[in-house]
Amino acid sequence: MSKENLDFFTVGVIAVLAGAGIVVMLIKTELARASGVKSGGRLFLAAALGMGIVAFTIKLTTFMLMAMLPKQIINPLMVERRFVEILPADWSKMPYIRRNDGPYRWQALPLQAPAPAANPTTPEKTALGKRLFFDPDLSLTRDVSCASCHDVSGGSGVDGRRTSKGIRGQLGGRNAPTVWNAAFQAVLFWDGRASSLEEQAKGPPLNPIEMGMPSGDAVAQRVRESAGYREDFDRAFGKGAEITFDRIAMAIAAYERTLITPNTAYDRFVRGDRNALSPAQMRGMALFQSIGCIACHFGANFSGASFANLAAGDLPAAVATDNGRFRMFPGNDTPYIQRYDLVADKGAAGPGSDRGIWRIPSLRNVAITGPWLHNGSVDKLEEVVRIMATSQLAASVDTVPQPGRTIFWSPADHSVSKVDRPVLSNADIKDIVAFLWAITDDELATKVSRRGTPPVKPTKG
Ligand code: HEC
Ligand code: HEC
Repeated sequence: MSKENLDFFTVGVIAVLAGAGIVVMLIKTELARASGVKSGGRLFLAAALGMGIVAFTIKLTTFMLMAMLPKQIINPLMVERRFVEILPADWSKMPYIRRNDGPYRWQALPLQAPAPAANPTTPEKTALGKRLFFDPDLSLTRDVSCASCHDVSGGSGVDGRRTSKGIRGQLGGRNAPTVWNAAFQAVLFWDGRASSLEEQAKGPPLNPIEMGMPSGDAVAQRVRESAGYREDFDRAFGKGAEITFDRIAMAIAAYERTLITPNTAYDRFVRGDRNALSPAQMRGMALFQSIGCIACHFGANFSGASFANLAAGDLPAAVATDNGRFRMFPGNDTPYIQRYDLVADKGAAGPGSDRGIWRIPSLRNVAITGPWLHNGSVDKLEEVVRIMATSQLAASVDTVPQPGRTIFWSPADHSVSKVDRPVLSNADIKDIVAFLWAITDDELATKVSRRGTPPVKPTKG
């Protein structure tokens, strides 16, 4: 029991005793005589007056019981109130959030990924796509499949390495992003150079480091030679449909559209389960909004590079936002740039520029996809959040003060504005990380930990 509760309890007990004493005295010395009632009546009078004390005692007891109950039981009862309290009322006026279309609306992930009209998702096609995704014959050396670098059966959809290892042990230059929920991204790869899963799927087989095949037709030939694929293609694309590199990519894309995780604690919360999030996760969610992470990681897939309107299976309506897909990273100077070599690769900006331009990645399942960032240089999620806060939001985080860029001059409007940058404590960072766990699928996380895979596999090189 806390000191505060103990004090309250002591005062309460004294009040009850004092009240009871006064009532008994009153009845005995004053009321009983004055009212002239008989003993039965006196008893009634005493009971009536005693009621007030009894009610107070019940309240006191209830309070004490509640104070003694474990947090897990009490918090869900309090959650609704806390949530209203912790959201800043005027968040939409906050300068970091350049959205003027009313309050930010948190969205759950649709239960189905949108598919283009030219490649509808069917069970036959996804079955074929799954077989292809796991087939090492799609690589020159017959030992690397899509699943080698995107371990979907083990959980997280990544390889756990800093940068990926392709055929003959060659190391690539970038970290493997997860394929989970890639179906909701309007542009793919760290630099956003592919604009559909169909287009993306043709990349790795022909990449000399990853799967090393000489041509699309060579890939198709490998598939034609494998037993059973003929029947699979008949079922997926119609009897006699030719086995082509295009159709291989279409089937893989269809399979990837089934790799979605719409049932995280966050999704359950947004769909109405008020107990789905812990208080730390809710504080993290509010911070994620109020300090401005949602300026870039917004919408149901937590990425400005997602289809903006995620009506299930409705691709024409799912038009991606044009301007919100890419951002400069690192956006501000921080000591992290040198520490993690963050400007060696310039992404979509090209080698001539001093900073990289990157597609805004989705943050779903991010708690289990380390190591993080395009070069896989960071092993701790808390550290990634610190990097983001300081670099992308010019926030101060404990030992990394970031007072710069608080005065903005707009040459167009001839106006000057002062922007106060967020100041975050270590506890805030922990809360944001707790929220990132809330958008990570429980089942996948359990699989990853059950396999004994450490959150970050140690890598050589
Ligand atoms: C050698 C490891 C490796 C193999 C094999 C591989 N990938 Fe990847 N994958 C990567 C890396 C690394 C990236 C990021 C590359 C970049 O952004 O430049 C990536 C990116 C992707 C993305 C983009 C995800 C996003 O969020 O943008 C998808 C989807 C994907 N791969 C699917 C596949 C499929 C399908 C195959 C098999 C045909 C495959 N990968 C084979 C390593 C691999
Ligand atoms: C101005 C846009 C912007 C803002 C604001 C922003 N991010 Fe990011 N975020 C990015 C970009 C771009 C990347 C990709 C960085 C890279 O190339 O490695 C990224 C990457 C990340 C990653 C790593 C993803 C991965 O798979 O490795 C995490 C985690 C993340 N952001 C969390 C946050 C959090 C938490 C906040 C708020 C404190 C935030 N971001 C604010 C643009 C932003």
